[in-house]
Amino acid sequence: MPSTTDVPVLTIDGPGGSGKGTIAAQVASALGWHLLDSGALYRILAVVSERRQVPVEDEHGLVTLCQGLAVVFTEDGVLVDGADLSLAIRTEDAGTRASIVAAIPEVRQAILSMQRDFARPPGLVADGRDMGTVVFPEARVKIFLDASAEARANRRYNQLKSKGLSVSLRGLLEQIQERDARDRERAVAPMKPANDAVIIDSTSLSIDEVFDQVMAEVASRG
Ligand code: DC
Repeated sequence: MPSTTDVPVLTIDGPGGSGKGTIAAQVASALGWHLLDSGALYRILAVVSERRQVPVEDEHGLVTLCQGLAVVFTEDGVLVDGADLSLAIRTEDAGTRASIVAAIPEVRQAILSMQRDFARPPGLVADGRDMGTVVFPEARVKIFLDASAEARANRRYNQLKSKGLSVSLRGLLEQIQERDARDRERAVAPMKPANDAVIIDSTSLSIDEVFDQVMAEVASRG
């Protein structure tokens, strides 16, 4: 199998709600490359550990759990040990617990090789927090997609409202700010742009505008 350095990788890092998941999926589809939603791996560990009553303090238990998980990404979701967890991993609570387990160095180490296995020909688009800094430091194109916390809370609010769910905008904003702080300030692989990343602020950009900017970066770097 080719090593990860032989396979072109495009990384898209940034905080939750910046649009990186949507952009990563669109760019992967446009290029015909594989897609890695690394946040989903942390979310899966968060949900499964809660269901199996492995506390977040039990680092060894979390690592063992992680090593035994059979994760299959499908067209529209994810199967874990055969069970469809597509919706369960998308809740705010799963995101918060994911951010807590993601701060544990041993958990990050266990998830590292799972992530690198996604780098297969013809190429990979990987989104997360540390794709450009730690997981794929040799990536050819690195994007850091940012947006103000207020804009991200508003997007999430509208998304939930359109699904008929009633939520508090202020509560969402607080949850987002708390998760950002934890992801930015942790000791291992904190969320930050790689030195060679292109920073795009999507606060007042449409998805199409961000997509065009990312594709222009890909084109300019061959
Ligand atoms: O991108 P997301 O919201 O699905 O990620 C959920 C959490 O997982 C995020 O708050 C922090 C963690 N995460 C991480 O630490 N490193 C990554 N590469 C991706 C996600």
